[in-house]
Amino acid sequence: MQTIFKGKHFITCQEWSKEELDTLLDVSFDLKRKFAMGLDTSYLTNKSMFLMFFEQSTRTRNSMEAGLAQLGGHANFLDTSTMQISHGEVGKDTGVILGRFGHGIAIRNCFWEIGNKYLREVAEHTSVPVINMQCDLYHPLQAVADLMTMKEKLDDLKRKKVSIIWAYAKSHKKPISVPLSQVLLFPRYGMDVWLAYPKGYELPDWAIEQARKNAEDNGGTLTITHDEAEAYKDADVVIPKNWGSWVTNQSSDVIDDLLEASKGWICTEEKIASANKDVKYMHALPADRGNEVVDSVIDGPHSIVYDEAENRLHTSKALMTLVMGGK
Ligand code: CP
Repeated sequence: MQTIFKGKHFITCQEWSKEELDTLLDVSFDLKRKFAMGLDTSYLTNKSMFLMFFEQSTRTRNSMEAGLAQLGGHANFLDTSTMQISHGEVGKDTGVILGRFGHGIAIRNCFWEIGNKYLREVAEHTSVPVINMQCDLYHPLQAVADLMTMKEKLDDLKRKKVSIIWAYAKSHKKPISVPLSQVLLFPRYGMDVWLAYPKGYELPDWAIEQARKNAEDNGGTLTITHDEAEAYKDADVVIPKNWGSWVTNQSSDVIDDLLEASKGWICTEEKIASANKDVKYMHALPADRGNEVVDSVIDGPHSIVYDEAENRLHTSKALMTLVMGGK
C-alpha cells in the first residue's frame, strides 16, 4: 500500500484506486476514534484551504471548516458571488493565485455541464490539491461518508443489497451527483447495487457502463429497475432520494409533468417493512420531509441519517490530512 497522497486531487472516487480509498477509510476511522477521545489531531498546523461555494451547503461547508480547524489549520469560506468570478475571472487565474496563497482548494459548483469542467480547469492549473465538494456529476465526499457508515453498520459489505431509489421532491432541483457517485463506488466493495427510478430519470449511459465494470471487477452486481417494490424487497440498505432531471430538462423550474407523475415515490413505513428486518435508511440530507420520506421513517429506528452526516466530518478530515499533509 502506497502512502503518498500529498497534492492528489479528489474530484471523483473513480480516480482513486481501491487501496487509496481503503486508506482514506482507515484514516477516517482513526480520526473518528481520536475525536471521540478528545485527542489532539493538529496534523495541518498553519495550513490553509480555500472553500469556494457556488451553491448553498450545511454539511459540506461545516464539516470542512470545522474539520480543518480541528486539524490545526484554517479554512477560508468563499461565496463565489462576491469573488471576481462574478465578473468573469476564469478558473485558471483563480486556481493559480489561490494555490500560491494556501495549501488546498475545495469547490462546490453544481451547474449542469459546467461544474465538473470548472473543477478540472482549476485542478489543471493550480499547484495545490483540489477537492470536489459536489459538482454537476459527482459528490465523492458524500459517497465516501456513506461507505464508511455502511461499514460501521453492516461490517462486511460483500453481497449486501443496497438500493439507490429515486424519490419525489419539490424543495429544490437536486443534481444527479449523489446517486451517480454511489452507483460507481458501492459495486467496488462487492455490493449488490439496485438502482430504481421512474422512466425519465436515467443516469448517463457512461456512468452505468462504468458501474457495471466496477461490479464485474469486484464481485458486485448492478440491477436497474423501474419497479420501486423490487428495490425495497429484502434490501439491507435503502437510499431513497430525489435526483433532478437536468439531463432531460435544463430549465431551473423544479416542478414539471414528469416529476408530478411520480409523486408516489416516497419512502414510507410500508415500503421499509418489505426490506430486510434490520434495513438501514440513509439520506445525504437535506431531505424533503413529507415528499421524499415520511417523518416516521427518517425519525424511526431504521434511520441512520445523523450518523451518516457525522461521518462527513471524519472523512473530510481524513481527506484533507492525506492530500495536504503527509509525506
Ligand atoms: N449532503 C450534503 O452535501 O449536504 P449539504 O448540501 O448541506 O452540504
